[in-house]
Amino acid sequence: MFRALRLIDCMFDLMKGGVDFHRSILDIRRHDHVLYNHSLNVCFMGLAFVSFLGWDAPKAQNFGLGAMLHDIGLIQLKPELLNKDAPRNGFKTTDSHPAVGYKMLSSMPGMRREVRYMALQHHENGDGSGYPAGLKINAIDPWARVLRILDHYETLTSGNSSKRPKSSKEALMAMAALQEKNIFDMNYFMNFIKFVGKT
Ligand SMILES: [Fe+2]
Ligand SMILES: [Fe+2]
Repeated sequence: MFRALRLIDCMFDLMKGGVDFHRSILDIRRHDHVLYNHSLNVCFMGLAFVSFLGWDAPKAQNFGLGAMLHDIGLIQLKPELLNKDAPRNGFKTTDSHPAVGYKMLSSMPGMRREVRYMALQHHENGDGSGYPAGLKINAIDPWARVLRILDHYETLTSGNSSKRPKSSKEALMAMAALQEKNIFDMNYFMNFIKFVGKT
C-alpha cells in the first residue's frame, strides 16, 4: 500500500512537469496506442524499480520522465512502420528513433542530460552490439542502462507485439540467456531479478 501511494505521488509530481511533457504524452497517445501503452508501462515499472533501488524522489521523478518519453523519436515515423519495419541493408527505419528522440528532448527547456541520454542510449548493448553508437557498457549512461532492462522486459511480457507475451519467469530466463553476452548492466540486472521476485 505504501509503495503504491509513493508511486502515485511520483506520477503526480511527474504530471507537474509542464506543457512540453503533457504535449509529448498526448502526441505519443495520438500517434500509436501500442507505443503509448509501452511508454506508460515502462514509466510505472521504472518508478517502482528505482524506488526499490533506493533512489530519492527528484532522481526517480526525472527517471520516470525519461522512461515515459524514451521512445518519443518514434512519433516522427508513420504508425504503420512501428510494428512492421523490415531491415534494409541491416538498418531499419525505426533505428533512427534514439537520435531523433534525443534531439526532440534537447529542444525542451530544462531536460536533464541523463533524461536525454535515456532516449539516445536505450538500445545500446553492453557488448557493443547495440545502436546507434555501438557503445560498451562503461560508456553507456547508468540511467540508460537501467532503462535498457526495463524496456526489454516490458516488450517481452506485454501483449503488444505479435508474439505471445512471456510470463515474468520466461522473460527473466530469456534475459539471463542474453546476459551471457553481457548485454545488460550486471548489477542492475541482478537487482531487477530481485525486484521482479518481490512484486
Ligand atoms: Fe526504443
Ligand atoms: Fe521502448
